Amino acid sequence: MLTLGIETSCDETSVGIVENGRKVLANVVTSQIKMHKKYGGVVPELASRLHVVHFVPVLDEALRQAGVGWKDISLIAATQGPGLLGALSTGFMVGKSISYALGLPLVGVHHIEGHIYANMLDKEDYFEYPVMALVASGGHTQLILIDAEFHYTLIGNTIDDAIGEAFDKSARTLGLGYPGGPIVDELAKNGNRRAYKFPEVNTPHEFDFSFSGLKTAVLRLVEKNELDEKEKSSQEMADFCASFQYKLVGELVTRTFNAAKKFGVKQVIIAGGVSANSFLREEISKRSDEYVIAIPALKYCTDNGAMIAAAGYARYTQGVSTALDEKPVASWSLFK
Ligand code: KG4
Ligand code: ZN
Repeated sequence: MLTLGIETSCDETSVGIVENGRKVLANVVTSQIKMHKKYGGVVPELASRLHVVHFVPVLDEALRQAGVGWKDISLIAATQGPGLLGALSTGFMVGKSISYALGLPLVGVHHIEGHIYANMLDKEDYFEYPVMALVASGGHTQLILIDAEFHYTLIGNTIDDAIGEAFDKSARTLGLGYPGGPIVDELAKNGNRRAYKFPEVNTPHEFDFSFSGLKTAVLRLVEKNELDEKEKSSQEMADFCASFQYKLVGELVTRTFNAAKKFGVKQVIIAGGVSANSFLREEISKRSDEYVIAIPALKYCTDNGAMIAAAGYARYTQGVSTALDEKPVASWSLFK
């Protein structure tokens, strides 16, 4: 059974075609990064307009790459929320239109559930419940306990910025460009992670996260060391990126495994754009003797249509479908 997955919640226009929620036949992603770069972040109105421009070519290319036609598609899955309302509307409306025109069932997918189900793509194993999921992206930093399929409990959350924002905003302070996560990751590879010290992070609840203090610390260290004056390729910059990444990833990993222990889970998974971070992947993988570990393939970490197809398929096989009069939702909780 082929699912066509649509993702337009932020600045990626993407269509994926996935067989039985697992096998990716196509996953076409057009990023708008270049257009938003000069503003230092995503401009919502621009994002919506660019989705309109990019959508049809992305859709045609996905069908071409998969080597299938409309008659082969059995299910439409589209991100319904959370995200930028105008951006979401574009893809969700296209999903509804295709569903109506071809008489195909539609599933409106929660974006975070999509990231979680990215762990199913091109893999054979299923989740082994209970699962502790670390969702780390540009908009979220959450620890989610999954007791059984679709049963989510929020265990920890950020009290200020999301981890992706911490990477992106600090990279901007350092003059490194946007989005900062992949740039910091790359520069950190040649740096000394013990070169710079960052303050301790304290949160009222043991599994919550906080990154705004670290963002301020970056600002102070940049001023003190005149870091933004230095070339991107300097050793100081590499050392700074390695130290900052070490601190950020440490925050994630410590809380994830503390929560995994407390809740006695069998499996630990990561999801969201920041799960592409090489150091995070390494640190999570190290614990495979204690927990079953799942990490999405690198190409499915950041926003894409295939992950939406995987989550939509999982919901559909459990009897869920979305009515055509439903609307996209900017804020949508995964939790009861
Ligand atoms: O999941 P995603 O594509 O979009 C949201 O739903 O937010 O995540 C985007 C975030 C950005 O903040 C980006 O800097 C971060 O993921 N990111 C990374 C890496 N690749 C992407 N952060 C750290 N290391 C990376 N390699
Ligand atoms: Zn995302």
